[in-house]
Amino acid sequence: TTPLVIAVDGPAASGKGTVARGLARHYGLPHLDTGKLYRAVALSLLRWGGDPDSEFAALRAVHEVAGLMDDPELTSEMVGGIASRVSAYPAVRAALLERQREFAGSPDGAVLDGRDIGTVIAPHAPAKLFVTASIDERARRRHAELTAAGLPVHLEEILIDLRARDERDSGRSAAPLVMADDALLLDTSAMGPDEALAEAIRLVETRL
Ligand code: C5P
Repeated sequence: TTPLVIAVDGPAASGKGTVARGLARHYGLPHLDTGKLYRAVALSLLRWGGDPDSEFAALRAVHEVAGLMDDPELTSEMVGGIASRVSAYPAVRAALLERQREFAGSPDGAVLDGRDIGTVIAPHAPAKLFVTASIDERARRRHAELTAAGLPVHLEEILIDLRARDERDSGRSAAPLVMADDALLLDTSAMGPDEALAEAIRLVETRL
């Protein structure tokens, strides 16, 4: 039997991470949140004072990624914003490609989530999901998360930030966020996490 590879793509705060983790648990597969790779590049630049506007500095920061993958600061909004800038550099994407392909090529199968898994990293994955939600719902979720983490931010600021990030991720020329032709759409706007996972499993099953 061919290994099960599940590609999960979608915009920020769409629920794709929760869906990907749940699918990995359900099918007993290893999971890679590829956003963490770009976040680690961003965090390295922030910590060591590299300039995010320099493709060369960002490329050098790729060497620090392995040591930062479990850093609690990876999840901050600041790091996410810089990640979406450095992820537009073709050299940075190229330098991170091999480890993602290797993960996707694991003999046991794998779940990967990000922006370009179904289009670039694992174009032959049998099961591809494109997870999305309305921008208002995504902002509401991010707001609730940050408030719960004791980091109150105005909803309006989050909306502005999400819009800017969507635009950068979809508008860039290197591996933009687009739905693969053979991906299945999962709109989680009106779903809680359990319902979204159940629907994701149902969709994946149609491809097995
Ligand atoms: O998903 P997450 O918000 O952690 O990703 C952070 C940033 O990394 C995204 O805004 C996006 O620009 C970039 N990214 C990417 N390709 C991926 C995963 C993330 O460009 N496969």
